[in-house]
Amino acid sequence: AAGRRIALIPGDGIGIEVADSARQVLGRLDERFGLGLDIDEYDWSCERYLAEGAMMPDDGLATLQEYDAVLLGAVGRPDVPDHVSLWGLLIPIRRAFQQFVNLRPVLSFEGVKSPLADAEQRPIDLVIVRENNEGEYSQIGGRFNRGLADETAVQEAVFTRRGITRIADYALELSAERRRRLTSATKSNGLVHSMPFWDEVVRERADQHPEVDLTEEHVDALAAKLVLKPESFDVIVASNLFGDILSDLAAGVTGSIGIAPSGNLDPTRQHPSMFEPVHGSAPDIAGKGIANPVGMLWSTVLMLEHLQADEAAALLMSAIKDTLRRPETRTADVGGTASTEQVTTAVLDRLA
Ligand code: NAD
Ligand code: IPM
Ligand code: MN
Repeated sequence: AAGRRIALIPGDGIGIEVADSARQVLGRLDERFGLGLDIDEYDWSCERYLAEGAMMPDDGLATLQEYDAVLLGAVGRPDVPDHVSLWGLLIPIRRAFQQFVNLRPVLSFEGVKSPLADAEQRPIDLVIVRENNEGEYSQIGGRFNRGLADETAVQEAVFTRRGITRIADYALELSAERRRRLTSATKSNGLVHSMPFWDEVVRERADQHPEVDLTEEHVDALAAKLVLKPESFDVIVASNLFGDILSDLAAGVTGSIGIAPSGNLDPTRQHPSMFEPVHGSAPDIAGKGIANPVGMLWSTVLMLEHLQADEAAALLMSAIKDTLRRPETRTADVGGTASTEQVTTAVLDRLA
């Protein structure tokens, strides 16, 4: 049987609240389908950092390597610098495990009101394929002349042929299975080295997939089109930073970033993949019990699919949709007044 060992890392803020929801849902699905889930929980977080000086133990990555998947809530707390918390946990996991795809599906849901006036006539169904291991996220650079008038920060971006090739191939294969339309986010007018290289490699790879219609869009214009004509997109492939920004934008256009899921995938399956909502730890609402658990639960669906528990994944997805359809089981970010717990209970009821 497929291994189903899961490492659950709730993290900080609402990460802890939505992880609690996912734990209950996985328990119920395991009872119903006999999935053989083996879930261990790790308290790696800003709280751990403040108490012990590190987000995770020295052998943290070796520990995670033994799992089939990692499920993460969110990381970050106002009293710990974000680059410390994220580069101490989330980003090392993405990189060490070669999770080079950050898969971020975006869907319109019945009951979730988009800020666009006529959104109901134009349902959104797109996937952002975000490069997850290189690009604009790098530790190369430095701060110079600290405190002086000519103080300067340099932040390098790193793009490799191998890195662009594998993300382009993944996006092309996904497009071929979907509506065969791939949009590549570029900015080759302003960035003179990285983006012309990105475009060149993406085109080379697209030549191998004549069935897929490739369009290049500068990321600024693409951002506008995502608001004006979101229904026209199928698959969007983007560098690390562009994909990060576009995925919150696209989720916002459907109604809330609280529903958006992600899978950090190592398609070679040599390492565990990691599933987490797109949103962060939301310190502004943490502790109030009002976080939308849907982003986390939809990420759990992606994880179950990855673990080849397709029936459980499909049931959970339909439970999520049904819950969003009803005003009394929606949280505030999607126009309701329900608590995290009430939404979770409603989902659990539909899994019985
Ligand atoms: P955020 O996603 O945490 O919050 C942005 C806004 O969206 C806030 O108003 C928040 O209340 C709202 N929101 C987010 N998720 C929600 C949910 N599930 N239900 C209802 N409302 C929700 O982004 P931010 O404010 O930029 O970041 C806060 C912290 O989280 C920072 O420390 C940041 O670095 C971290 N962060 C972590 C991750 C991660 O762990 N993967 C992702 C993004 C941000
Ligand atoms: C995300 C987050 C992270 C990212 C941050 C917290 C480093 O915004 O997962 O989208 O930029 O990758
Ligand atoms: Mn983000």
